[in-house]
Amino acid sequence: MKDNEKILILDFYGQYNQLIARRVRECGVYSEIVSFDISIDKIKEIAPKGLIFTGSPSSVNQKNAPTIDKKILELGIPILGICYGVQLISKILGGNVDSAEKREYGVTSVNIDNTSPLFAGFENTNECLMTHTDFVKVMPEGFKKIAYTADCPVAGIANENKKIYGIQFHPEVNHTKNGTKIIHNFVYNVCGCKGDWNMSSFVEDSVKALKSKIGDKKALCALSGGVDSSVAAVLLNKAIGKNLTCIFVDHGLLRKNEGDEVEKIFREQYDINLVRVNAKDRFLAKLKDVTDPETKRKIIGEEFIRVFEEEAKKIGKVEFLVQGTIYPDVIESGAGKGQTIKSHHNVGGLPDYVDFEEIVEPLRDLFKDEVRKTGLELGIPENLVYRQPFPGPGLAIRVIGDITDEKLNILKEADFIFREEIAKSGLDKSLNQYFAVLTNLKSVGVMGDERTYDYTLALRAVETSDFMTATWAKIPYDILEKVSVRIVNEVKGINRIVYDITSKPPATIEWE
Ligand code: XMP
Repeated sequence: MKDNEKILILDFYGQYNQLIARRVRECGVYSEIVSFDISIDKIKEIAPKGLIFTGSPSSVNQKNAPTIDKKILELGIPILGICYGVQLISKILGGNVDSAEKREYGVTSVNIDNTSPLFAGFENTNECLMTHTDFVKVMPEGFKKIAYTADCPVAGIANENKKIYGIQFHPEVNHTKNGTKIIHNFVYNVCGCKGDWNMSSFVEDSVKALKSKIGDKKALCALSGGVDSSVAAVLLNKAIGKNLTCIFVDHGLLRKNEGDEVEKIFREQYDINLVRVNAKDRFLAKLKDVTDPETKRKIIGEEFIRVFEEEAKKIGKVEFLVQGTIYPDVIESGAGKGQTIKSHHNVGGLPDYVDFEEIVEPLRDLFKDEVRKTGLELGIPENLVYRQPFPGPGLAIRVIGDITDEKLNILKEADFIFREEIAKSGLDKSLNQYFAVLTNLKSVGVMGDERTYDYTLALRAVETSDFMTATWAKIPYDILEKVSVRIVNEVKGINRIVYDITSKPPATIEWE
């Protein structure tokens, strides 16, 4: 990234900021989110090809509204202001921003000037998402109008000599038709980018950088089998080979065959220095008779660190500890809010007693979809790269009530069948998370001529993009029926299956 073309996104706390950064990268140009109060010197040092000002919940006319030094507009760097961004540019350069009586929210037909480089290739109108109360009433001197709607007389402005543009609508969201094309036009037609950001160059550059940073020193990585730590480990392995040791703590709470699959890939395909710790008995002993979900989580988090530390001690001093931190973790830790960036820990905190000098986070600049692409680039199998999210405490929070080996085995088998049938039906491409939960409820059933008294299994499947809210998935009845028949016939200990039809909120995705 050091030598890549960059677009800097000045963050005014708008809700779509991560999306803007992702869209720029989808156009093949590296982008970074920085706080709006970044200094001019820092901008000069970074030397971006363009700046984007984001939206904001504030009004530019409010006291203490976030603002920038006017000199930023005089640096000669191309600028695109979005929503609050265009209002800020207008206000600073002497235009007038006013408040409408009513907030405008929704997809609106916008008339656009397609002779402007920003709208090259567009028709005269475009459906765009507007969400604002304030609007540019009077444009600053030297600007011309490049977009308007029935209710918003100035929905886009441009000073083409100075390469400063602003739009009232949001090109980064899917509701805006061809929105990414507007961003594409900005970064290529206005900023003159060539597009040097792709995952194969990322792999090449990262391997080079990691090699020169770590040299022949040693690094340690905690491998969970999840996407982020797997990609980080393979990248490190490519850079420093046997000087990397991965510790895979298998707590016995993974899905059926998962521990063996992880081991196979890393040992056979990559010949990684791997220590697998089979710690199931230890975890189950600590979890014996524990029923409270939060207590389960805490015990597992702590035990995970203890096991990791013990293994790390056997290895002795290492110079580097590898973490699978990714860009959303960095942003959420405060990078965009002008605070110091804190290290984000994926596995419930950093081990206290591991002897290391420095943390390496090879994925800290990547969004999740870029991590997946990097994984594919590195040859990691698709089923691991596109693995659905799986909670750190694993099946412990999908066995309701106390956890026993027997219950875990019942759940593993049932969950396996559910996942197998979902994959066969092709629904695995559209469902974002799907799994089985072993309830602690037993009920009466009949099998053949015999009365049974066995567990009730719940199936859960959701559609979501952010996992903060989720909708229960309308899986066709015939698929649910097939799953139900197979599980009851093939898994001993279950005689009743229910399907969870609650969305989040009010329920959560997991049951515990
Ligand atoms: P909930 O149940 O809160 O889950 O709706 C939202 C997402 O987070 C995952 N999840 C966890 N992930 N450790 C994790 O690493 C946890 O303790 C944990 N609890 C929930 C869950 O699978 C879903 O994707």
